[in-house]
Amino acid sequence: MEKYLQGKTCIITGAARGIGKALAVKYAEQGANIVLMDLNKEMVEATAKEIEALGVTVLPLVVNVTSSQEIEAAIKEVESQFTKIDVLANCAGISTSRLILDIEEEEWDRVFNVNLKSVYLLSKYVGKNMIKNEVKNGKIVTISSQASKIGELGNGAYCASKAAVNSLTQVLALELAEYGISVNAVCPGFVDTEMLQEVFQKRSVIEGKAPQEYEELLKGQVPMKRLATPEEIAEFMLFLSSEKANYITGTSMTIAGGKTLI
Ligand SMILES: NC(=O)c1ccc[n+]([C@@H]2O[C@H](COP(=O)([O-])OP(=O)(O)OC[C@H]3O[C@@H](n4cnc5c(N)ncnc54)[C@H](O)[C@@H]3O)[C@@H](O)[C@H]2O)c1
Repeated sequence: MEKYLQGKTCIITGAARGIGKALAVKYAEQGANIVLMDLNKEMVEATAKEIEALGVTVLPLVVNVTSSQEIEAAIKEVESQFTKIDVLANCAGISTSRLILDIEEEEWDRVFNVNLKSVYLLSKYVGKNMIKNEVKNGKIVTISSQASKIGELGNGAYCASKAAVNSLTQVLALELAEYGISVNAVCPGFVDTEMLQEVFQKRSVIEGKAPQEYEELLKGQVPMKRLATPEEIAEFMLFLSSEKANYITGTSMTIAGGKTLI
């Protein structure tokens, strides 16, 4: 069967675990060269080993995606090994569990730097690489969140940063369309990852509930009555990263089991 990404080079940020890791596996199954970027050295190297076993070339890089210097150095390393970059998947992200009246400025800035500034920085460096190398049908796909479309109590910095990701996606889509580069975001609901488990632990306190009770409460608010798997989100991101999605740009599709409908 034809592989969607044969011979293409794909960068995934936040790739050591969670949705980023699930996406890296999907890209590898479709024949891509894989560049994994993450803060966590041990985890990113362990993930690289797992993905290499699928028979593709993997470059694991320890990068803080909020640092333009680290990103610039990482992109140089990618260019020296693969020259052109075909796909950028921005998956790195962090959440907060603090009311707006309580959140300190430093934490607010940290959330915006990881969730939003990183997307601007990576898109800038990768976009320039795609244009310089005349990459055909380049793709940028970013994980936003259902929280970009609805307010969530105790999650203000995250909601606002993800809403800004959707806006940045639209502008990037406009500015890169003439080069044939499409730019999209996906807006997942509750996805069963370690990040969400941490949210259950911390936000349940704000809601005055036990973590398990809070998890059940949130699941009960989803029309489909369950969490998404990381693979379900990664599957749609794979489609958006492939040439099957060449005419789709500037979108921010919600994948939330119906959560934002009610
Ligand atoms: N899990 C959910 O319910 C959910 C829902 C909607 C959106 N999202 C979004 O999906 C993305 C992935 O979330 P996840 O649940 O897989 O989270 P996760 O915490 O399991 O994985 C995130 C990864 O990003 C890395 N990372 C964090 N800060 C970084 C930095 N400064 N530089 C480089 N790497 C960094 C972490 O080390 C980690 O490996 C995030 O953008 C998140 O906001 C998650």
